[in-house]
Amino acid sequence: MKTDILLGLQWGDEGKGKIVDVLTPQYDIIARFQGGPNAGHTLEFNEIKHVLHTIPSGIFRPEAINIIGNGVVIDPVTLAKELDALQEHEVDISKALRVSKKAHIILPTHRLLDAASERAKGSSKIGSTLKGIGPTYMDKTGRNGLRVGDIIEENFTERYAALKQKHLQLLENFDYPTEDLGAMEDVFFESLESLRKLPLIDSEHYLNDALKNNKKILAEGAQGSLLDIDFGSYPFVTSSNTVSAGACIGLGLAPNKIGEVFGIFKAYCTRVGSGPFPSELFDQDGRRLATKGHEFGATTGRPRRCGWLDLPALKYAAMLNGVTQLIMTKADVLSAFEIIKVCTHYIYKGEKIDYFPYDVNGENIEPVWQEFKGWAEDLTHVKFVDELPGTLIEYIEFIEEQLNVPVKIVSVGPKRDQTLMR
Ligand code: GDP
Ligand code: IMO
Ligand code: MG
Repeated sequence: MKTDILLGLQWGDEGKGKIVDVLTPQYDIIARFQGGPNAGHTLEFNEIKHVLHTIPSGIFRPEAINIIGNGVVIDPVTLAKELDALQEHEVDISKALRVSKKAHIILPTHRLLDAASERAKGSSKIGSTLKGIGPTYMDKTGRNGLRVGDIIEENFTERYAALKQKHLQLLENFDYPTEDLGAMEDVFFESLESLRKLPLIDSEHYLNDALKNNKKILAEGAQGSLLDIDFGSYPFVTSSNTVSAGACIGLGLAPNKIGEVFGIFKAYCTRVGSGPFPSELFDQDGRRLATKGHEFGATTGRPRRCGWLDLPALKYAAMLNGVTQLIMTKADVLSAFEIIKVCTHYIYKGEKIDYFPYDVNGENIEPVWQEFKGWAEDLTHVKFVDELPGTLIEYIEFIEEQLNVPVKIVSVGPKRDQTLMR
């Protein structure tokens, strides 16, 4: 068996959580491979809305095993809150969830360092979610980090204290206040108990054995390809590899163990936080997308910036990930727009190009638009693809032709049954 991957092709929030939940019945195992509580994956069913940050989006399907992989960074505080929220929903956590011993731990001081670093950057700040992601991955690559496997060792408290001491020195350099740290640590140590009770495993062995035993695995990405640490709009990115190669690293699966790569994108484009966004709109259309699409961050509640679909960026993401099937979400949000636009090229330093250049920024890029006729119909009650309006089909076929990859799923609302298979 091979592992399929589902990941975002834009700047995150493409609807990964919803689609993973919809696809989970076809899989035995759902495994998150990177990111941490910067992610907010929303699932809606039975009139309830769930937002997951660390726990994979297969958790509500009774048969599936959910793995938090080695590539993830875990804040025990957020995780404990997520586990508490699940208690109301009859999820048998001891059966349904396992955590890699090699995943790194976000300490309270990582969160303070994230905030201190952002404050020091001033107007050039990344717009981080302030969850401590950057500092934790820095400690991982700097070989200072603490891992899940360490929390069950006797010397954990000493190792914690040593790393905290290093962080306090850095915070002093930043001249950043630490008076909240005591209270943050109380919650941290309390929450650590919830993590200690979970099955802590060597997930690379678990997953490779599962493949040998013909189990089907879906790897769930967080963030999106344009936030990738290597290929995104650096430095306005997150600190992990969000592209498909990140699933190999973040789960310990060799490249020849990868099957389908599902690339998910919104029918338009959004971004939270700072950084370039060539197809961003500042007009009535942008405000309409934000309002109709309820574009507010699932983790921070910040308004998401909105724009039309960006093809050069989407093509870049499809290439980097080796996408084999596309999934388009939020098609319903485009209903009632008379004209829908797509950015097909950029005017970059005076030249027309169709690729995502090295130095993307607002000043040197101007989008070239192609217009499409919209549709009036509300799509949220459509049950079959052949009921979709002709103009939407033309829009989808244009994207397929441009990317040379089929759009296999069209999502027309946040709920499970608002998902059309093509
Ligand atoms: P993720 O981070 O990729 O899992 O996406 P988020 O959960 O952060 O944001 C996606 C938002 O859009 C959530 O509020 C979803 O409930 C919602 N959503 C997902 N698919 C659709 C869709 O097809 N139509 C509409 N209107 N909302 C959707
Ligand atoms: P999901 O998985 C959208 C953005 C932040 C910021 C940048 C760096 O829900 O799609 P970080 O906290 O990682 O240091 O922030 O990345 N960002 C996201 N934007 N969706 C996400 O996750 C994001 N995770 C991080 O807004 O611009
Ligand atoms: Mg999200």
